[in-house]
Amino acid sequence: MNSYDSTRLSDMLIGMNYRPVNSYQEADLIIVNTCTIRAKARQKAVSFLGRLAAQKRKNPSLIIAVGGCVAQHEGRTLIDKFPQVDIVFGTHAVARFPDLLQNVREDGHSIVDTTMTDIIDDRSGSVRHGRHSDNVSEFITIMRGCDNYCTYCVVPYVRGREISRHPDYIVEEVRELAASGVKEIVLLGQNVNSYGNKKKLCTFPELLAMVNDVDGIERIRFVTSHPKDFSDELIQAFVTLDKLCDHFHLPVQSGSSRILKRMNRKYTRQQYLERVLKLRETVGDIALSTDIIVGFPGETGEDFDETMSLLEQVEYDSIFGFMYSDRPLAPAIKFSDKISEKEKNRRLNQLLDFQKHISQKKNRALVGKTLTVLVEGPSRRSSARKDTIEPEQAQWTGRTTTNKVVNFTLSEKCLSVMPGDFVQVIIEGGFAHSLSGRAVQKKNSFKNTGGSFNAA
Ligand code: 5AD
Ligand code: SF4
Repeated sequence: MNSYDSTRLSDMLIGMNYRPVNSYQEADLIIVNTCTIRAKARQKAVSFLGRLAAQKRKNPSLIIAVGGCVAQHEGRTLIDKFPQVDIVFGTHAVARFPDLLQNVREDGHSIVDTTMTDIIDDRSGSVRHGRHSDNVSEFITIMRGCDNYCTYCVVPYVRGREISRHPDYIVEEVRELAASGVKEIVLLGQNVNSYGNKKKLCTFPELLAMVNDVDGIERIRFVTSHPKDFSDELIQAFVTLDKLCDHFHLPVQSGSSRILKRMNRKYTRQQYLERVLKLRETVGDIALSTDIIVGFPGETGEDFDETMSLLEQVEYDSIFGFMYSDRPLAPAIKFSDKISEKEKNRRLNQLLDFQKHISQKKNRALVGKTLTVLVEGPSRRSSARKDTIEPEQAQWTGRTTTNKVVNFTLSEKCLSVMPGDFVQVIIEGGFAHSLSGRAVQKKNSFKNTGGSFNAA
């Protein structure tokens, strides 16, 4: 969500004749787009804001803005703590940012806008004519906020009530992105499975079908799903929609029904496992990933063992693991039986270690297979040494439909690629977080738009 909002802000600013610079020390305007999902995310944002005091002393005309969830929650107190800040704008104020900026530029007074509304600016994201990135994959927000109130989570308080954008505007935005060369769309919402329910717009699988019909888009992904609303209709969408990728992110949070109840997740371990089974039986080979919180208040050793056994049972392709973190607005901050930092750390390490072996095993099993990869660009290691590299050694990076990162070299059968190409890659290595391989064939049926990138 933050990444999407940052893209929109940057497109708006370029439209106002701003241009990006390479480091914040060179900037006339700095926007810190913050996250408060865990204490550490907030801490990072706040310490960066602190560091900006010196920058403002060096360049008094510098404008500093704070957006996102910390801004929404803390509002004017951020200016009291950090007088160098000129603009505080909340999660519903992104579209209003140009006006806020204009005001500060004109009268020099600091300004706070944390107004939340029940109305979503349907068009807010759809003005993408000014898109300035050449990413082959782009996010699109389809809804905002959340009504689920998981007891650990701050999102309903800082992002507001759940509200969906009208499908017409979403499809319009997808078309604009397709016309500018985007090949992959990632639909975003806190709980996409309940998309459209409140306003009776259309169901999420119906929206997926509309996006599937847009020419030029080759892949569709979405995040994130709540298991309690995961319908049979969505399972069917994986079978019927050719562009929907073979990957599903389904956050479980815990393998213990007792903890799930305390988290207010509204499903049991058994119900979750039944959904996964049905998905796999119907769709076949589909990659699965999840989010897990360890050390939720009251999580006993047995509860944690149940999470470990769930990992063993499901065999996810990858997981995101987090230590539970108290958030001031979320009810769990008042729960008893808090787990010590040391124990949370121990559980997280054990969890990630265990998953590493599963991911490695699954990725090693792909060695020798030929997979279709959407090329994203030169891999970081390769672009750092671009001048000295031979074409066959240049490293490129992309993803499979199952969302696995593939770092690959070219071969005499496929001597040049560019971002947005689909290539067949023979997998030669399988690791915990990526695959490696060699491109053997380019699929030429896809239109090229951006500039050409040769291996050298
Ligand atoms: N502490 C730790 N992890 C959290 N998440 C959300 N809130 C918290 C919290 N208070 C995790 C959940 C969610 C992911 C985005 O962040 O796993 O799915
Ligand atoms: Fe937070 Fe739960 Fe909503 Fe996800 S579903 S955003 S974890 S309250």
